[in-house]
Order: sequence, then structure tokens, then C-alpha cells
Amino acid sequence: IERSLVIVKPDGYRRGLTGEVLRRIEAKGYTLVALQVMTPDRERLAQHYAEHEGKPFYEPLVEFMSSGPATFAIIEGQGCIPGFRSLAGATNPTEAAPGSIRGDLGRDWGLKVQQNIVHGSDSPESAAREIGIWFPEA
Ligand code: GTP
Ligand code: MG
Repeated sequence: IERSLVIVKPDGYRRGLTGEVLRRIEAKGYTLVALQVMTPDRERLAQHYAEHEGKPFYEPLVEFMSSGPATFAIIEGQGCIPGFRSLAGATNPTEAAPGSIRGDLGRDWGLKVQQNIVHGSDSPESAAREIGIWFPEA
């Protein structure tokens, strides 16, 4: 069965939106198969965001992501990889459609990195890779 790696990023955690995000995942019909709250370390963030290394937002992104607790989840269900991306909405919360997590709950805070509440794997390859980074036992 298809699985995706979802993160409620530190902004979502600080704003108390973890339950709201998990509620939307469950309401959609996806299953939570693993859940962990932790402050991500820079070493694993560098692996996770390897594709963005060298881009102007890379350092601020790693800084922001390691700034406090975040919630990591493995979700499961047919189509859950594109399905969660659709629940999340566009990367830029200003442009994300109302009805999506970022569209309903996110905004531009004028910071160096887009604080957009959630992460979701973008392909089966990314999902397998990211699950291996954050849930090595899975
Ligand atoms: P994730 O689900 O978090 O991976 O978001 P995404 O797949 O919609 O975006 P992407 O993987 O391209 O970028 C990862 C993260 O880097 C985004 O979620 C943003 O937090 C940040 N980011 C991406 N593009 C930009 C950008 O152009 N400017 C800034 N400031 N931040 C960006
Ligand atoms: Mg991405």
C-alpha cells in the first residue's frame, strides 16, 4: 500500500495546528501508521532537503526546520502521496487555494523561508527515501 511522509513543520507545531492537520488526514480517509514529535537535527535535514542544497532558501530552510519541535507521520492509503499534496495546497501559502491546509491556515509572514505548515513527499521514490531518514526502523 502507498505510504507518504508528512511533517507538521515547526511553524505548524508552534501555532497548535498539529491536531488540525492530523484531523484532515484522517477525515480524508488515510491511516496514520507512525507518529513522532521531535526537533529535527541538521544532519538528517540536509539529507531530507538534499535537492535544494545551494539554493538561496536552503540555509534559512534548514535553520527554520531545526528551530523547534515538529511532528513526523507516516500516512497510508491508495493515492496518499498526491492526495496529501492536494490537501496541503500550493507551496506558497498566499497562492494556496482555500480549502487546502496552506490556503486555509497559512500566510506570508515576511520571512526568508516560506513557513507553510506542512511537508508531504512528492513521489514514491521521495516517500521511501524520506521514510528511511526519519523512521529508520520502519
Ligand atoms: P515541502 O512539502 O515542504 O517539500 O514543500 P514543497 O514540495 O511544496 O516545496 P519544495 O520541496 O519545493 O521546497 C521545500 C520547502 O522550501 C518549501 O516548503 C518552503 O518552505 C521552502 N521553499 C521552497 N521554495 C521556496 C522559495 O522559492 N522561496 C522560499 N523563501 N522558500 C522556499
Ligand atoms: Mg518538496
